[in-house]
Amino acid sequence: MSIDLNNLSGEKLEELRLHDKVIAKKYDSIRERNKFSRYYQDYWLNKILDNLKSEPKKVLDYCCGTASLYPVLKNRFSQTEYTGIDISREMIKVGQHNYGNSKNFILHQQDAENLDLKNDFDVVIARGAFHHLPSPARGIEQIHKVLKPGGLLIISEPVSTVLHKLIRKIVYRLNSHFSATHKSFYFSELKSLLNDNGFEIMKVDRFGFLAFPFGFPDIFSFVKYFPCFFLKPLVEIDNLLAKIPFVKNLSWSIIIAARKID
Ligand SMILES: C[S@@+](CC[C@H](N)C(=O)[O-])C[C@H]1O[C@@H](n2cnc3c(N)ncnc32)[C@H](O)[C@@H]1O
Repeated sequence: MSIDLNNLSGEKLEELRLHDKVIAKKYDSIRERNKFSRYYQDYWLNKILDNLKSEPKKVLDYCCGTASLYPVLKNRFSQTEYTGIDISREMIKVGQHNYGNSKNFILHQQDAENLDLKNDFDVVIARGAFHHLPSPARGIEQIHKVLKPGGLLIISEPVSTVLHKLIRKIVYRLNSHFSATHKSFYFSELKSLLNDNGFEIMKVDRFGFLAFPFGFPDIFSFVKYFPCFFLKPLVEIDNLLAKIPFVKNLSWSIIIAARKID
């Protein structure tokens, strides 16, 4: 199953070009090979999966990229059927190359704002998805459509204070990994996005402080000069920061679990 490129807006074609031509190669050759980044990304994905209390039958990885969620999910829930969708053929190709022979592993090239899937998913996981979409509300509607009644949506997105927004604006403009159309959200915006579109928020976890940049050696190349042993304690410090009132609101990212209510 693939998408009709003639039906994509200019913004989406640019997103597709960016991921096909620049980012897929960097994920494959830098992010997923760097030891600390691999450790950090898996740690993050496991935090997301901590929201699942029992083995789901079917999980949708929404804007799956290179399907880095798949091995982490499989490690915890060996029988779950994994489906990933992404607009970029080259991102999908990396996932297909790495895990294509695995059982219960399905990838589709699809536009996240126009899903062509059955409505039988128990769980949808969307990490780093909504800030890429021209209409996050349209994206949420599509997820609502494919989730079973009472199904669980777990999102993880860049979250901002005014200061974060400014830093992100600069990085988005200067780094070839981003496009100026990429968004970052205030917590209140994410809350409204979910509550206004048929979801009830179950749990909110702040994620990513001092260790966060080290998870992205493809974006911040300086981080590769830091040794792993120095970085793991940073993750522990981050765990403490995430528990301190007010300070926790300075995180770079957030994990929100929400249940479909109507
Ligand atoms: C930051 S990456 C996140 C990838 C993956 N979820 C992860 O956690 O590693 C964002 C992904 O969104 C995809 N994407 C952007 N716009 C999309 C759209 N309209 N439909 C489907 N995928 C899209 C990109 O191709 C990219 O792979």
